[in-house]
Amino acid sequence: MTVTTKLKYQSGFGNEFASEAVEGVLPQGQNSPQKVAHGLYAEQLSGTAFTAPRALNRRTWLYRTRPSVAHKPFQPLAQGRLRSAPFEEVPTPPNQLRWTPIPIPTERTDFVDGLITMAGNGNTHIHVGVGIHIYVANASMTDRFFYNADGEMLIVPQLGRLLLRTEMGVLEVAPGEIAGIQRGIRFRVELLDSEARGYICENYGAQLRLPDLGPIGANGLANPRDFKSPVAVFEDREGDYRLVTKFQGRLWSAAIDHSPLNVVAWHGNYAPYKYDLANFNCINTVSFDHPDPSIYTVLTAPSEIPGTANVDFVVFPPRWMVAEHTFRPPWFHRNFMNEFMGLIRGEYDAKAEGFVPGGASLHNCMAGHGPDAETFEKASNADLRPVYQGNTLAFMFETRFVCQPTKFAIETSELDHQYFECWQGLKKKFDGAGS
Ligand SMILES: [Fe+2]
Repeated sequence: MTVTTKLKYQSGFGNEFASEAVEGVLPQGQNSPQKVAHGLYAEQLSGTAFTAPRALNRRTWLYRTRPSVAHKPFQPLAQGRLRSAPFEEVPTPPNQLRWTPIPIPTERTDFVDGLITMAGNGNTHIHVGVGIHIYVANASMTDRFFYNADGEMLIVPQLGRLLLRTEMGVLEVAPGEIAGIQRGIRFRVELLDSEARGYICENYGAQLRLPDLGPIGANGLANPRDFKSPVAVFEDREGDYRLVTKFQGRLWSAAIDHSPLNVVAWHGNYAPYKYDLANFNCINTVSFDHPDPSIYTVLTAPSEIPGTANVDFVVFPPRWMVAEHTFRPPWFHRNFMNEFMGLIRGEYDAKAEGFVPGGASLHNCMAGHGPDAETFEKASNADLRPVYQGNTLAFMFETRFVCQPTKFAIETSELDHQYFECWQGLKKKFDGAGS
């Protein structure tokens, strides 16, 4: 039996939420009374150190039919194409890399089976770095559940809607939206369409948060109230199920005789969320030149070095291009930070072709990149009237450490070995006289 409430989402980012699927379950004035209403168990899930500063402290109290400890011991589970830090399978080439979309498999593949790691960096042991995955699936998780002890998962669907059934409730997320499921939260993924594909940033580091806005002011970019967290929903079912976890880079599976999504009520600020990228308030130039792409930051996971993120999630949404006497597409550049890009739909303004929805590119530290020859010529001669660039939704996982590709990413037939060709047509430009 699945019990739901009428209220679907609670608005806000990191708010102190409260929700109960059965009225009167949440204790008043305390967290762990001697007896919880209806005999439920009280359990705290801490997402940060107990003593983390108040503004960053994340924890949720869960009132559940069984505590999370009630399962059999974990046994190793085959890894499939999932990989984890340290990423040392193959040497990391300094080349610009690009992939076409990974096909949806024909055999039955659920969300966990379909996790394919493309690249990553850092170290899960010390909570630094990221894993970057693409998921491809054609089946729902029904009798197994998952949690990630190594990091939070920022899910970016590109194809197919997902129903994320979590301990705190249910999130429906479609292409154009993102979802965040923090470290440790148990969930299963149902497909609402026949196929699903998307991107995942597994953030081993400090939790993703909204960036400071500085001179932008109190509003803008991603506004907190547009983030939606679920309301309490619980599954009261028993059977021969599996609880799968990613812990210290490996998958493990334990038998469990009930659904761990058995939280009847909860309160706290550690809760999954979703966000519609259409709500991103895009700030950009109204005079000339480009702000750096950090102006498109939706969420950031800071490191201990100020302004140098473990990872930023950056979106390039539909927007007006109005810059005067300016080369409007992204200019040629080389960066300290490392850029893994994906395309959710439409086209990306730096490339005439080859970077397609579901595909990906990776430009690591100091790898030169920028517009292809065709885009350069076109943009250099374009009529600079205001143009609405509506057919696009690209994003970037931008991280402080070099993204080291997996063996799969280097050996797959989806790797575009001709990517370098798009810059070979860039002609020598100098119409002055030599000395
Ligand atoms: Fe770039």
